[in-house]
Amino acid sequence: EKIYIGVDVGGTTIKVGLCDAEGQLLHTYEGPTGTGQGTNVILQNIADYSRKIVEESPFAWEQVEGVGVGIAGFLDIPKGFVKFSANLYIENTDLKGFLEKELQKTVKVNNDANVAALGEAWAGAGKGIDNCVCYTLGTGVGGGIIIGGKIVEGFNSMAGELGHINIVPDLEAIQCGCGKMGCLETVSSATGIIRMAKDAVARGDRTSLSEVEHIMAKDVIDAAKAGDEVAARIVSRAAYYLGRSMSTVAILLNPQYFIIGGGVSKAGDFLFDQIREVFEKYTLDPAKEGVKIVPATLGNNAGVVGAAGLILRG
Ligand code: BGC
Ligand code: NA
Ligand code: ZN
Repeated sequence: EKIYIGVDVGGTTIKVGLCDAEGQLLHTYEGPTGTGQGTNVILQNIADYSRKIVEESPFAWEQVEGVGVGIAGFLDIPKGFVKFSANLYIENTDLKGFLEKELQKTVKVNNDANVAALGEAWAGAGKGIDNCVCYTLGTGVGGGIIIGGKIVEGFNSMAGELGHINIVPDLEAIQCGCGKMGCLETVSSATGIIRMAKDAVARGDRTSLSEVEHIMAKDVIDAAKAGDEVAARIVSRAAYYLGRSMSTVAILLNPQYFIIGGGVSKAGDFLFDQIREVFEKYTLDPAKEGVKIVPATLGNNAGVVGAAGLILRG
């Protein structure tokens, strides 16, 4: 039996999965990314964990067909080269070259959200759906476009960088990690929600939110659900810009499903209903007919499954 390794490189954790040819997850492993300890540590960790997972499993290294890697940031996808990853502090790194040399296997590298989208389209919420667009709401806002079952990469590997859709009006815009003002990510990521909560408290808004130093997006969402108006306004703002961005994406690509994953999506219907309402309001009828906005179903495993899929479906 052939097996496929999928690696999901996150800011804090590297997750690894072993998949069979149907995208079934056979085994998982995870360890710290080593962010902040330098690029070499991160690269070495990816290689070590890939070997480790096979050692721990009932499979042999010879059965491994290849290693797929999803990583946040701007890449040269065909070359497997990381140009710039703001969240991992990596730049100009030949990730594919390093891993191929180290592991002596076929290696494919792609953007973390592209890979999560592929996982969801293959074995998750988008199973059997040919065209879907995925958003991941976490530290950043990730995006992945799947058309005809394949990732759309674009000319410079930048297709589907939905978090950097420029959408917040100048008067309200703040700077994104990418350097530009007004990106979707500045309001609809966990980081954006946290920032808005801190701003509200600093302004002295009347809210139940306190001790904002270590506040998490979930705290803000929970407060909003419990009726805190300031928190509710923050979550609505995140939902509003997501819905507006989807309205544009619907006109560009007319996907059948919008799949939303990442930590913030755990807010559930409270968030989804608001996004659906905005999408409904602003989207041209024939572009939204039969179109669904659905939660991701693979949860934390979308990345590793999709990364393995890079080898299988590539
Ligand atoms: C990065 C993307 C990434 C997303 C989610 C964004 O800030 O630009 O490349 O997919 O965060 O990690
Ligand atoms: Na992407
Ligand atoms: Zn940006």
